[in-house]
Amino acid sequence: MNACMPTAPRDHFSQIVPKWSQFGPPLRPWPDNTAVVQRAATRLNADAHVVVLGLTPEIIACDWPVGVTLSAVDHSPAMIEQLWPPAKGPINSEVILADWAAMPFESCTIDLVAGDGCYVLQTWPDGYAALTREVVRVLQPGGRYVIRVFLRPDAAESVTDVATDLAAGRIGSVHAIKLRLLAAVHGASGAGSRLDDVWQAWKAMPALPRALAGKRGWTAEEIMGVESYAGMGARYYLPTLAEFRRSLGPGLHELECAFGQNELSNRCPTFVLERRA
Ligand SMILES: C[S@@+](CC[C@H](N)C(=O)[O-])C[C@H]1O[C@@H](n2cnc3c(N)ncnc32)[C@H](O)[C@@H]1O
Repeated sequence: MNACMPTAPRDHFSQIVPKWSQFGPPLRPWPDNTAVVQRAATRLNADAHVVVLGLTPEIIACDWPVGVTLSAVDHSPAMIEQLWPPAKGPINSEVILADWAAMPFESCTIDLVAGDGCYVLQTWPDGYAALTREVVRVLQPGGRYVIRVFLRPDAAESVTDVATDLAAGRIGSVHAIKLRLLAAVHGASGAGSRLDDVWQAWKAMPALPRALAGKRGWTAEEIMGVESYAGMGARYYLPTLAEFRRSLGPGLHELECAFGQNELSNRCPTFVLERRA
């Protein structure tokens, strides 16, 4: 696959989540994930320039030092229309319609880049490398990159394992089922996880998740989010932890790999990386 070819169409997210509020953790950050971004925000000077990859409201709403400039970069006009302007963010905020692999910033000018789950939509390995290369290019030496990453476990689990846990009430949220099914079908029909394969697996589960609408706090709208995967050829790529670390290359030094305390947090660590001099 070509490095520049997207794995999903530009307006992919607005197709699978008509309302952002129907999309929940672990696919959106938990508070303990956002706390890692907050720690990086707190150490910035007032004249810092921050880049957010995407429009993640929890990141943009951090308590930034007064005076910080925040540029949110996203390539989807539909997502920008839905999420911009943010409910809370620094006064000096702007949104830029651009691809993360070609951002309109001078080299070595950015103090912090932050994002949530951004790699999952990129091709492996070229798209992952292109995103990292661009982040390294724009960051100042010593600048930080805080990114939460969706991983697949070292020991693969099957769709049957997920179905068994679902039937036994061992899965806390519909979004956790999605992440587990994405990992369970990984590689089944080519590189990464095809969303239609997730849908097929979901549909075939004996304790049909749809029957759980209204139970365990799951809403029909959240469940519809998975049903929108039906027929979608888009692919997500979830590396293992070791694969992801290897993909980062020599430009970044790992300061922290923070696993949170919530469901599937062991599969969604937040990395704090420093741009080498
Ligand atoms: C940040 S990601 C993942 C969602 C995230 N977990 C959250 O809570 O916001 C979602 C956003 O990434 C954007 N996006 C995906 N690939 C992109 C790319 N290559 N360049 C710019 N924006 C991209 C999509 O348009 C979407 O708005």
